[in-house]
Amino acid sequence: MQLSRFPRVRLAHAPTPLEPLTALSKHLGGPRLFVKRDDSTGLALGGNKTRKLEFLIADALAEGADTVVTGGGIQSNHVRQTAAAAAKSGLACELLLQRAVPWNDPDYEQTGNVFLDRLLGARLHIEEAGRDRMTELTRIAGEVEARGGKPYVIPGGGSNATGALGYVACAQEMLSQANDAGIAIDYVVHPTGSGGTQAGLVAGFAGLNAGVATIGIDIVADADEVTRSATEIVGATADKLGLDTMPAQDAVVVKTGYSGEAYGLPTPEMIEAVELTARLEGLVLDPVYTGKTMAGLIDLVRTGFFRPEDTVVFLHTGGMPALFAYRSAFEGAD
Ligand SMILES: Cc1ncc(COP(=O)(O)O)c(C=O)c1O
Repeated sequence: MQLSRFPRVRLAHAPTPLEPLTALSKHLGGPRLFVKRDDSTGLALGGNKTRKLEFLIADALAEGADTVVTGGGIQSNHVRQTAAAAAKSGLACELLLQRAVPWNDPDYEQTGNVFLDRLLGARLHIEEAGRDRMTELTRIAGEVEARGGKPYVIPGGGSNATGALGYVACAQEMLSQANDAGIAIDYVVHPTGSGGTQAGLVAGFAGLNAGVATIGIDIVADADEVTRSATEIVGATADKLGLDTMPAQDAVVVKTGYSGEAYGLPTPEMIEAVELTARLEGLVLDPVYTGKTMAGLIDLVRTGFFRPEDTVVFLHTGGMPALFAYRSAFEGAD
């Protein structure tokens, strides 16, 4: 599995740290917990999309594009990191932001990621939810072409086989860190949305024959769609890598029950998890992805899913800029 066969620009501060969560492990009386700090990838406040963008932006440059087009929700972390990657790579950036979350905090459309998108110089197209995202991205790409530009469209979440290579790289990096530190990882627990992070990890660990299970926590309240999307990208990524053996059919594991009513809406368990992790570990999570995922991890520990001797890595995928758009959700919580 040679990732150097694929065009790549270096955007991430890597390797990101792999650190023990000693106080949290002790508090839960559970397995040995570690955190993989992909919130610290470094590009415009970091996060998981930076690793995907190393391969996506390189592909855009190889195709001679001058403008990157992508989209997400108003507080999309993917969109913010794409704006930064485009700025750093000398590309223009057009961003579709859809009002996909019924969250009325007055800060929601002003602060956090959307504030940073503007700061990073991207052109924003804000619209109501409901329209098909890919159709809208194609329309915006058409407008770029009509002006004489050369667009490169990145799908939502940067999730396709090219983007997933970033998480194949993360699987390699984590395994090498674990080997150096004498840690045998049993599980990696992470948020899963558009499926590219999970697909890259599943394909990467399979290609390395690592014996590490990945558990995606559904944060979009649609586990069937998340599983379908991740499984499809696993196949495409394994093909791209030329893996001899395909990852097992059941390698994409998605746990449900932690997303709450809908994507982006706070849950009491998320608030408890964000506060607990902050107070025990000094580690800040986000309300949409990693907070709900930590709530899932805590529940899996409490309900005996893991054996006490297991080693479990929580993949921190970033997203903290959105915390500031959810200030009101934490009011009164103590
Ligand atoms: C902070 C954060 N974590 C996790 C994810 C989910 O990753 P994926 O879309 O690759 O499933 C996202 C996606 O937007 C994210 O912003």
